[in-house]
Amino acid sequence: MAKVAIIFYSQTGTTYKLAQAIEEGAREAGAETRLLKVRETAPDEVWMGNEKWKAHQEGIIDVKEATNDDLEWADAIIFGTPTRYGLPSAQLKNFIDQTGGLWARGALTNKVGSAFTSTATAHGGQEATILAMLTPFYHWNMLVVAPGYADPIQFQAGNPYGASFTSNNASLSPDETALASARFQGKRVAEVTAQFVGGKQ
Ligand SMILES: Cc1cc2nc3c(=O)[nH]c(=O)nc-3n(C[C@H](O)[C@H](O)[C@H](O)COP(=O)(O)O)c2cc1C
Repeated sequence: MAKVAIIFYSQTGTTYKLAQAIEEGAREAGAETRLLKVRETAPDEVWMGNEKWKAHQEGIIDVKEATNDDLEWADAIIFGTPTRYGLPSAQLKNFIDQTGGLWARGALTNKVGSAFTSTATAHGGQEATILAMLTPFYHWNMLVVAPGYADPIQFQAGNPYGASFTSNNASLSPDETALASARFQGKRVAEVTAQFVGGKQ
């Protein structure tokens, strides 16, 4: 059985819905999962003054915050964040920037990594954001498993780098194609990881 940690930032809920679908796919494939948020780093007065942002933060109050122990626990790590000017959010980067101790010990070596995102607009930076999230995996000696076109849903979803959705600033909720693609990504990561972990044993 693969242990899969899905670690996300979401300001207004879109990326969170993709994260939930990824967890569903991983679980259906037999994985043990942890769905975890990263800490909100924006000042309280900023996010509390934004209706959608506030509603989402209050909605995920019961979702646990990811720690370095979760990274160490996992056989596979799947990062998700909305695009910020074609880059990952500072909130996810803040979490990544606290992993120096793990890197120094080589604690993440040979784990599997994958990533997903959400933008407001088509061509708004989905691939660039996913590729940026993969970069730490190379530094951590990990193996990248992307969804590719390994399932017919990927020809509809159209992004072989990772699950993604164009939300028009969270006025659209991930549609069935995006959710099916996210479930497939979770399933693929869980299956490949289980094969890899099983092979090592
Ligand atoms: C500061 C900021 C920068 C953003 N930059 C982009 C961008 O470069 N391209 C884009 O399409 N959307 C951009 N967006 C929109 C979000 O990525 C988009 O609404 C996303 O779906 C929100 O996901 P969430 O609901 O999980 O927070 C930006 C939003 C903010 C607040």
